[in-house]
Amino acid sequence: MKLLFLGDVMGRAGRTAIIDRLARLRADWALDFVVVNGENASNGAGLTAAHAKALLDAGADVLTLGDHAFDQKDMLQFCETEPRIIRPLNFSKAAPGKGARVFEATRGRKVLVAQVLGQVFMKRAFDDPFSAVDAVLRAHPMGGTVNASLIDVHCEATSEKMAMGHFCDGRASVVVGTHTHVPTADTMILERGTAFQSDAGMCGDYDSVIGMQKEEPLRRFITGMPKARFEPAKGEATLSGLYVETDDRTGRATRVEPVRQGGRLSQQGPV
Ligand SMILES: [Fe+2]
Ligand SMILES: [Fe+2]
Repeated sequence: MKLLFLGDVMGRAGRTAIIDRLARLRADWALDFVVVNGENASNGAGLTAAHAKALLDAGADVLTLGDHAFDQKDMLQFCETEPRIIRPLNFSKAAPGKGARVFEATRGRKVLVAQVLGQVFMKRAFDDPFSAVDAVLRAHPMGGTVNASLIDVHCEATSEKMAMGHFCDGRASVVVGTHTHVPTADTMILERGTAFQSDAGMCGDYDSVIGMQKEEPLRRFITGMPKARFEPAKGEATLSGLYVETDDRTGRATRVEPVRQGGRLSQQGPV
């Protein structure tokens, strides 16, 4: 199976890049399944129902969220009615929606998608992500009930994401990090066949500070005093993420390539 994962869509610039480019990538790369992290798609904080629909219409099969899952209040309801939205497994026992679900890709093949939040340097004490992921992977084994599985690991620390990659090695097709908005250069297939990259990077304007216009973050770093709100940067976005090929029988990755399309970052992709 040919899978594409794209990291945190940042504001209008990120949405526009998805709408302009994803259908073309789906066709050009013969993609079977596309997962997009949408936690910052609405003005940099959360995801509205309208923007979720736009990303799904543009060619995403599933949208994952993150620590900003419910910054836009209509997501509290929308994620209960739209099964293609996945929030973190360990967000809160009271959270609406689901943290993992099995979806159907092309030719009836089954793909598990799950997301967890990390505990290191995060703003709240979330429940243990390792036991949460373990239960989901045991319930949906590759080569058993699913043909492939993808885990979005939404963490600040690369150490925690890398540990999660090894924890899932051989049990998931892809473990990919999100949340830091900067792609890491450790794209690889782990020892037992899991495709891994510590962070996918964002789908946003990289002429920015992690997707926000530069002026206010710089002011706060330099003076320690806020003056204005953070606003998403408006220049052309780079679509950032991972392209993965998997073996339908075992679910293991046979190829992984970083993806960076459009915008300021040096360009990468499977072709
Ligand atoms: Fe996040
Ligand atoms: Fe994010």
